[in-house]
Amino acid sequence: MPQLFTLLTIGAFAAMAVASPVAAPAITAAPSLDKRASCTFSGSNGAASASASQQKCSTIVLSNVAVPSGVTLDLSKLNDGTHVIFEGTTTWGHKEWKGPLLQISGKDITVTGASGAKLNPDGKRWWDGKGDKGVTKPKFFAAHKLTGKSYINNLYIENTPVQAVSINGCNGLTINQMTIDNKAGDSAGGHNTDGFDIGSSSNIVINGAKVYNQDDCVAINSGTDITFSGGYCSGGHGLSIGSVGGRSDNTVENVTFKDSTVTNSDNGIRVKAKSGTTGSIKGVTYSGITLSSIKKYGILVEQNYNGGDLHGSPTGGIPISNLKLDNISGTKAVASSGHNIAIVCASGACPSWTWNKVSVTGGKTYGSCQNVPSVAKC
Ligand SMILES: *[C@@H]1O[C@H](CO)[C@@H](O)[C@H](O)[C@H]1NC(C)=O
Ligand SMILES: *[C@@H]1O[C@H](CO)[C@@H](O)[C@H](O)[C@H]1NC(C)=O
Repeated sequence: MPQLFTLLTIGAFAAMAVASPVAAPAITAAPSLDKRASCTFSGSNGAASASASQQKCSTIVLSNVAVPSGVTLDLSKLNDGTHVIFEGTTTWGHKEWKGPLLQISGKDITVTGASGAKLNPDGKRWWDGKGDKGVTKPKFFAAHKLTGKSYINNLYIENTPVQAVSINGCNGLTINQMTIDNKAGDSAGGHNTDGFDIGSSSNIVINGAKVYNQDDCVAINSGTDITFSGGYCSGGHGLSIGSVGGRSDNTVENVTFKDSTVTNSDNGIRVKAKSGTTGSIKGVTYSGITLSSIKKYGILVEQNYNGGDLHGSPTGGIPISNLKLDNISGTKAVASSGHNIAIVCASGACPSWTWNKVSVTGGKTYGSCQNVPSVAKC
């Protein structure tokens, strides 16, 4: 608060000096000045103070904030146009609860990680190899209801307890150069550490993300106009649509994954429709994807997902239409025990596909492909 008042005072005198250098200034309320304040919060009171003051500050600097255990760093009521800047290392205390540990919502919001800044929830305190099962683990970042022209730039996130970034109810969010580094979880019991989970959102762009984790790099359960570009995914389950079906929103439309690498992962490309459910997966494009060191499936498209891959009979309640694969390079990418390509569609439920320059080799041929569109190869 002291620095806030200082800024207001300076701002007020500067304004008066320009507007009326001679006349004695009248004291008038200037509520708009409030919103121009830059506020800095730090230490163990930082989260509570930032949450309480969020509507008084146009810029919120979170400098080495230590969020206590069981507390959400809650910036979900920001004024339009607020700039949130993380500096130094942000930490969270340990508690078995659902989280989220960080929540940001608003219109025209820009979130920036300053040079060298880290968000470190130190997930290994929860890791037990069981992910969503086992001890209750807090989800990390609810990026929900970010709208207008919102940005999240240069955030570096380390070792989330379980899922990292949930994007839900957003319309108009661009995420640039985010790193989610859960590498330590490869050997220390990280599980279900999804990079980006996206639902009920539109006009989402994710550029230049680096994700080291132990589940989907990106999973899009529903949403429209979503682009993931220039990404690098290591250690996880690949670039996924779905699973789609059985939720309140079961439509995926106009999604592009492009110019990205998936390595050291269970799968490269995966499109999952839950059997026995309804919805639509339409206009999904994978273009310029490089695969290497894939353990299970290079490319997997299934209408018989039931919580596990390729279970039972496929059903056509969620058509997978206008799927486009273009320039997928995965020569010798799949382990000899894995499968290159698996496609299991219900009859007539995978129309209008494009399949161009797809090379995925190294693994076995999957013997149970069904209703494979004529342009594709299984
Ligand atoms: C998806 O893209 C197509 C082609 O550009 C367009 O006609 C359609 O309206 C888009 N759908 C949505 C839900 O934006
Ligand atoms: C194919 O994708 C690779 C990245 O995997 C990219 O470098 C290359 O330029 C693409 N080729 C074409 C013809 O688009």
